[in-house]
Amino acid sequence: MSAPRRTRKYAGAPSVLERPTPSAVRIAVELQPFTEAEGVAWPGARTARFYSLPDGIPAGKGIEALIPLVSHPVGAAELDLLPDLRVVANYGVGHDNVDVTAAAERGITVTNTPGVLTEATADLTLALILGAARRLREGLETATSGSWKGWGPTELLGLGLQDRVLGLLGAGRIGSAVARRAAAFGMRIHYWSRRPNADLETEFGAIRRDELRDLLREADVVSVHLPLTPHTEGLIGPDELRLMQEHALLVNTARGAIVNEEALSAALAAGTIAGAGLDVYAQEPSISAALAQHPRALLLPHLGSATHAARQGMWGLAAANARAVLEGREAPNPVRPRGGASLR
Ligand code: DGY
Repeated sequence: MSAPRRTRKYAGAPSVLERPTPSAVRIAVELQPFTEAEGVAWPGARTARFYSLPDGIPAGKGIEALIPLVSHPVGAAELDLLPDLRVVANYGVGHDNVDVTAAAERGITVTNTPGVLTEATADLTLALILGAARRLREGLETATSGSWKGWGPTELLGLGLQDRVLGLLGAGRIGSAVARRAAAFGMRIHYWSRRPNADLETEFGAIRRDELRDLLREADVVSVHLPLTPHTEGLIGPDELRLMQEHALLVNTARGAIVNEEALSAALAAGTIAGAGLDVYAQEPSISAALAQHPRALLLPHLGSATHAARQGMWGLAAANARAVLEGREAPNPVRPRGGASLR
């Protein structure tokens, strides 16, 4: 059953009769450093206040804009406690933390921050590809643990990237930026996505595969660049991992739940794939012991967009989106409820 539609209280600029409540904007407290670097003039008499997740997503009347982190769940239950909410300006390009359908049913705009973190995330993806291919976790451990016995011709041999196939799952902004970098390392680009990417095909001779299984069979490195949706959750499970080559690597900088972590740990333990480079996990911040302890799992704590410029840019976009809606304009980066077409 969907919630009743509410009357828009503050459509457009507020009139004197519709004086907005102060602190109409609530911002995740972790964003404070970025707000200090780039303040925002909120329309009308509106002011912003920070909130902290341990106290829960803010609730109550008068809150018109919410700027949460991608780790803050904003579902129907939270939205129902915000009767005046007009916009959820998510601080991130991913928006699986927000129930976009429930928001749309309540007349609330949801926005994200595409573009500003593309290059940063692609850089980190390459770091994971190179790191997993050249076994950096084991190398660091050997170099720093005192166990190193000196240069050895067979020590920690890895995968060279030249002429290897990079299999991209998803060829949007970030996937394309990864392809550009990987091509500079001599990799051949294959991709699996709902839509053809003509630029990738022309610029890098990328080959689109209709079937996921074909891509998994032929890729030396599989890199995930899909959004998390009901269709992509658990997309890479035991059957898909079994299709990968023994020397192949799986890299994920998108969303953890797209990969079945138990199946991945089992594949690593059995040696049916050679390694993994992960930045994201199904239940962040928890990482299973099996993955955390596996020497061929190169793991990072969700750092894809962690550059000064990207994180500041994300703030700029999130604030611009929130402000646009409060001013009665169209948000620059709206996200819409997803259609039902399955990728599988
Ligand atoms: C995103 O934007 O979705 C990332 O996961 C955090 O930058």
